[in-house]
This record gives sequence, structure tokens and C-alpha cells, in this order.
Amino acid sequence: MDFLGYKSKRVIVSGCFSGMGEATARLLLGLGAEVHGLDYKPTALELASFTQVDLRDPAAIDAAVAGIGGRVDALFNCAGLPQTSPPLDVMKVNYAGTRRVTEQVLPLMSEGGAIASISSTAGMGWSRKMPVLMELVQKKSYEDTMQWCEDNLETVNEGYTLSKEAIIVWTMMASAQLIKRGIRINCTLPGPTQTPMMNHFESRTQASVLNTFIQPIDRRSTPEEQAGPLVFLNSDAATYTNGVALPVDGGFLGGVATGQVDLSALMPAA
Ligand SMILES: NC(=O)c1ccc[n+]([C@@H]2O[C@H](COP(=O)([O-])OP(=O)(O)OC[C@H]3O[C@@H](n4cnc5c(N)ncnc54)[C@H](O)[C@@H]3O)[C@@H](O)[C@H]2O)c1
Repeated sequence: MDFLGYKSKRVIVSGCFSGMGEATARLLLGLGAEVHGLDYKPTALELASFTQVDLRDPAAIDAAVAGIGGRVDALFNCAGLPQTSPPLDVMKVNYAGTRRVTEQVLPLMSEGGAIASISSTAGMGWSRKMPVLMELVQKKSYEDTMQWCEDNLETVNEGYTLSKEAIIVWTMMASAQLIKRGIRINCTLPGPTQTPMMNHFESRTQASVLNTFIQPIDRRSTPEEQAGPLVFLNSDAATYTNGVALPVDGGFLGGVATGQVDLSALMPAA
């Protein structure tokens, strides 16, 4: 029984060099999908195709997606930069470039297509910032998005939090439109995950703050524990799941909502 329905599906995974993207590509290969990878670093995986592309370059994104061409059944937006990178680069890769990849892939998708992107529990404050986030996500082009970022550098701040909030709000907004074409779009909110990006988080963020986000499960996620929910969201097992920002955080956001996790380490940072 092919419960998830990936046998001979054509899928694209951005960020397939390491971490969650690599784990996702591996899982999809195991499920019988035809996997096409995008990253600015080459992958060791045996994919149907791999295209080296920098998500900070919209023309390169367009060429990369055109090079894959054909029918695409599912897109996994896994590429990302941490807050140790320049803020505008973070906005480009995590939001504007991710959105550009998606918009280039959409014409290659038909009814039944699905898109899953990675946000973060770092984006959990999105609902308190709706006016500014709606202003940002209503910028349709890559160029207008980045112009808005340049004009609003204080709001962009370190880039990471805003990029993750923007993915959530854009996912919700796009979901109501794309479902009219039978295409679904969702995102995940991972908690701290043991990937190469974690070294960057550790260099910038106090351990007490990082450890706040592993409550109540008391350990970090593996990349494979993040790949599973992404693969589920784009699968035939999730055809009524749309516009969702799915926490994959060991219970952190549930604990926050019910006052059961200790957020005191975040207060001095705030
Ligand atoms: N690790 C965590 O704790 C954590 C938590 C929440 C969310 N996330 C998010 O998960 C996603 C995956 O990150 P990860 O933890 O697997 O880290 P990672 O660094 O292993 O993976 C990021 C991938 O993106 C690629 N990438 C970076 N910049 C690029 C560019 N300009 N063009 C093309 N590809 C580029 C990298 O080469 C790499 O393959 C990111 O969006 C990240 O923000 C990570």
C-alpha cells in the first residue's frame, strides 16, 4: 500500500545539501519519488537532478526551475539561512527566494500539487504582527519584497524572525487562493533541531534561551523528525490539510498556550 502516494511522483527539494532538506530528500528517495534538488552547495545524494542555485539570485532561481521543467507534484522549501548572515540575505533566502521558487514551480503543478515550507517556532509571534506582515506578503514580486525590506530595516531587524513570520502568513494567504486550483500549501514550525544551522544559533543565542524552546520534551529534534511531517503534509494522506502552520516542536507551543513552559529566559532578551 502506497499510503503517502510518492511512488513516481516528481518532487523538488530546496536546501538538499544538509539538515532537514537532506533528510527530506533521502526520505522521498526511499518512498520512490523522483527527487530534483536545489542548493547552493552540491549534494552527495543520488537525485534525478541537482541544480546549484543561490536563492539570493532571482534570475538564477527562474533558470533552475525552468531547467527542471516538466510536471512537478510536490515542492519542499527547506533552504534557509540563520541570523548570523546579513539580515537582507536572510530575508532573500528564507522568504523572498523561497516564494520565488514556489511561484516559478506553480505553473508546473496541476490539481493535486502540494507545497510545504519550513518556518520555525521563532515565527510564533506572527499573529501579533499581522498589519505589518500583511503589508509585506502583499508585495507580489521578489523585487518589491526586497525594496520593502530595504525601506523597513528596523522591522527586518536580524531578519530571521520576520522571515519565519512571513512564511507563515504568506502560506495562509496563498492557501486560500491556490486551493481553487486544487493545490495545497502548508508549513512547519520546527523547534531546535540538530543540523549544521544549530552551530550558528549557538554562536548567537544564550544556551538558556535555546533551551527554553526544547521544553517540555527536553531534547532537540533530529532532521529526520522534521522530514517526516514535511513529507506527510505534501502527501496523499493530507489532501484536506491546507494553510496550516504545523508546530513540530515536541509540545513547546502547546506548553506556551497553556502556561506550562518557563519563558523567563526570554524576558531579558525581549
Ligand atoms: N535547525 C534548527 O534548529 C531550525 C529550527 C527551526 C527552523 N529551521 C529552519 O529549517 C530550515 C532548514 O535548516 P536546517 O536546520 O536543516 O539547516 P541547514 O543549514 O543544514 O540547511 C539549510 C540548507 O539551505 C541551503 N542554503 C542556504 N543558503 C542558501 C542559498 N543562498 N541558496 C541555496 N541554498 C541555500 C544550505 O546549503 C543547506 O543545505 C531553514 O529554513 C531553517 O531556518 C531550523
